[in-house]
Amino acid sequence: MKGIILAGGRGTRLHPLTLGVSKQLLPVHDKPMIYYPLSILMLAGVRDVLIISTSRDLGAFQALFGDGKQLGLDLSYAAQDEPRGIAEALLIGADHIGTDDVALVLGDNIFHGPGFGEVLHHHVADIDGCVLFGYRVPDPERYGVAEADAQGRIVSLEEKPARPRSNLAVTGLYLYENDVVEIARGIRPSPRGELEITDVNRVYTQQRRATLVDLGRGFTWLDTGTHDSLTDASHYMQLMEQRQGVRVACIEEVALNMGYIDAEACHRLGEELANSDYGQYVMNISAAAPAPWLVAP
Ligand code: TTP
Repeated sequence: MKGIILAGGRGTRLHPLTLGVSKQLLPVHDKPMIYYPLSILMLAGVRDVLIISTSRDLGAFQALFGDGKQLGLDLSYAAQDEPRGIAEALLIGADHIGTDDVALVLGDNIFHGPGFGEVLHHHVADIDGCVLFGYRVPDPERYGVAEADAQGRIVSLEEKPARPRSNLAVTGLYLYENDVVEIARGIRPSPRGELEITDVNRVYTQQRRATLVDLGRGFTWLDTGTHDSLTDASHYMQLMEQRQGVRVACIEEVALNMGYIDAEACHRLGEELANSDYGQYVMNISAAAPAPWLVAP
């Protein structure tokens, strides 16, 4: 499976923060925002990832991650200079997707919950059409809203409905079978000139090939689109770290746990950041990990 992180957009609700820098590079507590969606793809077992952003910002993402080899990943980059819709990522990324299935994630979506790695693994292994992830919200009329039957098959999808049929908002993580590229090529821009991802998902819904996974209670999905929600997200991550002693979306730790890199490589990555608490954490977890090169044959 291939991965795409869509990290373009204008971020107008965050002005003036985003006048000079991409929203997805802004800090959420101790790390750039894009670490969170990247770690989700890594947890899903996806290592070949295309990062899409504006030409203005691509250089900064490249400075951050390079080709990704240090994390056991294969990262590439492409431009979307105008926000012509989330579904356009599937057209920009068509060559990258090739003949594979694809996981698309928005660069400003933060997911945090126990066992999410297993949930992702389970669904990535067997996609029929598309898999969307629903999160219960008190104000569904602000979101894309999905209604599913008892088997989790989506029966209706509505964009910002005045009278929502459920309180499950569709989050910014989408798993697709390879035919999504053809489907995206077939949809027309909305009146505001965007290729809407809901239109793609509606095709799968009509084909009865759209599944909704309810993220459930105990799970956190954070929005980072406004000044208050961005600050709230930072406070949430700070609290998690202080209370639980673990870091969320530490990509070096995820790479180590997933077996993409060994403890020695992880330690080296931590050393490069040794002046920060984050770097110290990376060194500590690598020191605690079983070191295969020390194990007697
Ligand atoms: P939005 O919240 O629609 O856009 P935004 O956050 O850039 O803008 P604003 O504050 O002005 O409302 O998009 C959600 C995410 O998807 C965000 O990470 C940007 C990204 N995106 C793109 O990269 N390209 C696109 O064409 C669209 C529509 C969104």
